Amino acid sequence: MSLPTQVNLVKNKFGYDEAFNYKEEPHLNAALKRYFPKGIDIYFENVGGPMLDAVLLNMRIKGRIAVCGMISQYNLEKPDGVQNLFCLVSKRIRMEFNVLDYYHLYPKFLELTHQYIKEGKIFYVEDTVEGLEQAPAALIGLFTGSKVGKQVVVVARE
Ligand SMILES: NC(=O)c1ccc[n+]([C@@H]2O[C@H](COP(=O)([O-])OP(=O)(O)OC[C@H]3O[C@@H](n4cnc5c(N)ncnc54)[C@H](OP(=O)(O)O)[C@@H]3O)[C@@H](O)[C@H]2O)c1
Repeated sequence: MSLPTQVNLVKNKFGYDEAFNYKEEPHLNAALKRYFPKGIDIYFENVGGPMLDAVLLNMRIKGRIAVCGMISQYNLEKPDGVQNLFCLVSKRIRMEFNVLDYYHLYPKFLELTHQYIKEGKIFYVEDTVEGLEQAPAALIGLFTGSKVGKQVVVVARE
């Protein structure tokens, strides 16, 4: 299924310079070279697997990878092997997961983001379903691309 609306959303509402739909790019390495001809300085890792492999090839020297999650690897009986980890050595890339080290800053994060949302500096999109009985389908939808934005299940409206 083609999802041009997601690309439009990322570029036109969220203000990113470029965006592509990974489902429409058979060669992720070629796609990244096309969109980032000078290479990638900072990558926020949420995907893992073939995307991480392609990103590693396109990182710049002394680039940084902040690891948040690896969603492509969660429901596999056997996770994908990552082939290009040697790029960490040859390009002196720093790759780390560190959210737990900064958890004490969470209240400050909430305060700041609330303010930015009020001021229109940060936008978010929610995909809402009504009723707890919709929760299983909504959960499965996280892995099948059937929603746009943060999936919310409204259990009851007060
Ligand atoms: N470190 C932490 O404390 C923390 C906390 C929360 C979440 N996370 C991580 O943050 C990431 C996003 O979580 P979220 O709750 O924001 O999820 P989300 O709102 O459901 O977003 C998931 C995104 O991942 C994409 N996706 C799903 N399967 C994919 C695949 N096989 N290859 C490439 N992209 C894929 C989806 O795109 P399509 O729908 O188009 O497939 C969607 O854009 C996850 O890796 C999660 O583990 C980390």
